[in-house]
Amino acid sequence: MALVEVKVPDIGDFKEVAVIELLVKPGDTIKPEQSLLTVESDKASMEIPSSTGGVVKELRVKLGDKVAEGSVIAVVEAAASAQAAAPAPAQAAAPAPAPAAAAPAPAAAPAAGGRVEVRVPDIGDFKDVAVIEVLVKPGDAVKVEQSLITVESDKASMEIPSSAAGTLKELKVKIGDKINIGDLIAVVEGAGGAAAPAPAPAQAAAAAPAPAQATAPAPVPAHIPPTASLPPHEPAAATGTLPHASPSVRKFARELGVPLEELKGTGPKGRITQEDVQAFTKAVMAGDTRTKAASAKAPSGGGGEGLGLIPWPKVDFAKFGPIERKERPRIKKISAQNLHRNWVMIPHVTNHDDADITELEAFRVATNKENEKSGIKVTMLGFLIKACVAALKKFPEFNSSLDGDELVLKNYWHIGFAADTPNGLVVPVIKDADKKGVLAISQEMAELAKKARDGKLSPADMSGATFTISSLGGIGGRYFTPIINAPEVAILGVCKSQTEPVWDGKQFQPRLMLPLSLSWDHRVIDGAAAARFNAFLGQILADFRRVLL
Ligand code: COA
Repeated sequence: MALVEVKVPDIGDFKEVAVIELLVKPGDTIKPEQSLLTVESDKASMEIPSSTGGVVKELRVKLGDKVAEGSVIAVVEAAASAQAAAPAPAQAAAPAPAPAAAAPAPAAAPAAGGRVEVRVPDIGDFKDVAVIEVLVKPGDAVKVEQSLITVESDKASMEIPSSAAGTLKELKVKIGDKINIGDLIAVVEGAGGAAAPAPAPAQAAAAAPAPAQATAPAPVPAHIPPTASLPPHEPAAATGTLPHASPSVRKFARELGVPLEELKGTGPKGRITQEDVQAFTKAVMAGDTRTKAASAKAPSGGGGEGLGLIPWPKVDFAKFGPIERKERPRIKKISAQNLHRNWVMIPHVTNHDDADITELEAFRVATNKENEKSGIKVTMLGFLIKACVAALKKFPEFNSSLDGDELVLKNYWHIGFAADTPNGLVVPVIKDADKKGVLAISQEMAELAKKARDGKLSPADMSGATFTISSLGGIGGRYFTPIINAPEVAILGVCKSQTEPVWDGKQFQPRLMLPLSLSWDHRVIDGAAAARFNAFLGQILADFRRVLL
């Protein structure tokens, strides 16, 4: 078994092209001609094949590296059969060079009436490549070397430039057409009705080979396009009109049915990466209707089944780097299912507001001082539970559940609070919070939170809530969008209070402000009611005596 250095073959006069994808990793068994990586220039991306089969021992390049003809890509322990076919490592590594002259030049031929026929130039031994994008339309003014169409094979995509300047009169190809060297792409009428002005490149192009005259096909692997004459230009994505992605990513997107034109590329120069395609699919699966595809497919109601979504992407993550797999705790698995159902089935809206808790905080601190000996510590959450009961009584629809066409209004006020535990999120419930004082609520909360952390909550401890509060106040943050805990219809998210300058009509005063985020089910609650609920809650928190009214 010999070690073979696989090198970048002749890729036309591409110089210093960036590696944008690694398609194999050390340990992989590969076949001769199997693609090892994808490189990309402004105009084309192409996959670089291995000249030998065997086991990849070493990858000598990483993402972002610049490579040129002769750069060593990988070291492969050649399989016996491949070895026999490989005369010498260096030769085996680099497929025979393609002379730069063999690279395609834009092809055009003058036609009658000052019109120029633009044809497919020499694109190596590409045969029947599909048109995947049409970049211009009749009536457009085109410049020499401006890209007209993009073609794609299994291994590479490239843009075909115009060899003439003027007005595009006719387009002779459409998406899906298969084209070959010499095929007519378009008819361009030179500016002012004359034949296309012939700047140097265009002249060269006009003189460029008709199919029969084409330079001898370069002895490069069929999937390496000789792109030397493709002129540099702004990447398509920069114009905001075209998706810019490598052939593998395009293929991947096609297989998953992902519309590339809806994606925003996060790669260099806005290039769409495989991760972008995966993220899009995940968003669709999660019911994110911000994507057009998702909104087209999302059901008008009902369960998560039969959503008509494309399958969840199956990714071999180990292909991209080291990974470890971990079983998820039972609580996390159950809450994930609940959260997913609630997010998908409930039309959520969230109102954000602030409550002035300057006086309440002073009262809380004083109360804790007074009760130091009792061991009962009151946090803002205790007051919030009591304040929410008052708001729920004033706005009963927030203390309800949907049951088919009926609304079930509950005349009891059981308040759930989200508790963070090492095993995941749980929601213990303070029953009959309307009948309890803040001290009793605080004491019960502390007991339930401890039980939660110890994993000792019973199902009874976690059932019957009519409204939930999720407090991140002890941790931080400003606002968030809590997910409603079905079959409840609203949830209050609370973040960390902070002192802010508040205008009192004459001057700014330092006030302690508590950020509130109320998510509500739009099927039951209207925006105005939610705003009133938050405003009322703010009034109570600003002057807690109002709880008694
Ligand atoms: N602003 C500023 N400080 C706050 C605050 C707020 N809104 N809320 C609490 N604090 C302070 C408390 O006063 C306490 O301060 P201290 O240590 O000086 O006494 C500290 O933050 C810690 O409070 P905490 O122990 O968290 O008590 P709590 O009553 O506020 O919350 C739980 C109890 C069980 C709800 C809380 O520990 C918890 O698990 N929160 C996470 C909930 C969650 O994950 N929600 C997300 C769901 S998506």
